[in-house]
Amino acid sequence: MKELFGRLADGTEIHRWSLENGGTRMKVLSYGGIVQCLETPDRHGRYANISLGFDRIEDYVTSSPYFGALIGRYGNRIGKGRFTLDGETHRLSADDGENSLHGGEAGFDKVVWEVEPFQRGTDVGLRLSHTSPDGEMGYPGTLTAQVTYTLTAEGDWRIDYAATTDKVTVVNLTNHVYWNLAGEGSGTIEHHELTIAAARFTPTDPGLIPTGELAPVTGTPFDFRAPKPIGRDLRTGHPQLLAAQGYDHNWVLEKGITAEPEAVATLRDPASGRTLRVATTEPGMQFYSGNFLDGTLVGPAGRAYRQGDALCLETQHYPDSPNHAHFPSTVLRPGETYRSTTVHSFPA
Ligand code: GLA
Repeated sequence: MKELFGRLADGTEIHRWSLENGGTRMKVLSYGGIVQCLETPDRHGRYANISLGFDRIEDYVTSSPYFGALIGRYGNRIGKGRFTLDGETHRLSADDGENSLHGGEAGFDKVVWEVEPFQRGTDVGLRLSHTSPDGEMGYPGTLTAQVTYTLTAEGDWRIDYAATTDKVTVVNLTNHVYWNLAGEGSGTIEHHELTIAAARFTPTDPGLIPTGELAPVTGTPFDFRAPKPIGRDLRTGHPQLLAAQGYDHNWVLEKGITAEPEAVATLRDPASGRTLRVATTEPGMQFYSGNFLDGTLVGPAGRAYRQGDALCLETQHYPDSPNHAHFPSTVLRPGETYRSTTVHSFPA
């Protein structure tokens, strides 16, 4: 189903598509490819919207910390907003101090995507397309991006990303859903239990740019190899947690880059009985514990979002890879196709 959600200041119509399959319901906007609502049942079969969002387009345009949005051209930060590729230095739009975050000032979260619904066998979904002109936000090359959201008969939400370029460039696409498995607006996620299949993470400098080190998680608050409540180590005073006001780091997934999505994380809310499983082809995942939510934004149910009221699990290549030769490469050349897949499942 497609309906008018609102209009941008210049009159552009923003549409909202509703999808349902296998017990999962979602609503997606043409603006930013935003997942505006995602509903799953709890252990008693009661539905709740488990992703943070807004019910007015104006709020997405002016105040959204990437709620539910597609992120591009580059998920997470590029240090000092610059990188050098084949001897040429590129300067990006700096939207986070001197750094470039999530594609710059007007990233893929702020563009209007072309959206085509589809049905294929028992799957339903949306095909989102966007062509980013050469030089947009400082990135070289015309980037043609296609993102497919599929809801399967099992109720899984699968994202397939693809992109091509006409000049050598870098690309790192992801999605920025803020999860609260008890329902958006229901309070803290500190009691959610998280598991991440990673023995190392990438520590950051005070500007949240990776130092280049791949540090072991053993004996640190960053060890999520066994299920752990998110709040358990949050107040330990670990310098990396103090600098980021919580978790806002990239985990080095043990499996590395894979041709098919492999399970990397499980999030469980003991209270509601809801579980989210994340599988990906990507080598990294940013776990962000909603540190910058400060009680100034109000969700669709009229409840304010405070620090730690949601978390993000952003599958990706590592932040600032273009400036770290030993990180898996994010370079895309003409003739190649960038591909990435992430599957979110909601086992009962
Ligand atoms: C990512 C970043 C965070 C923050 C959020 C959005 O998770 O790593 O630092 O920018 O997005 O607020």
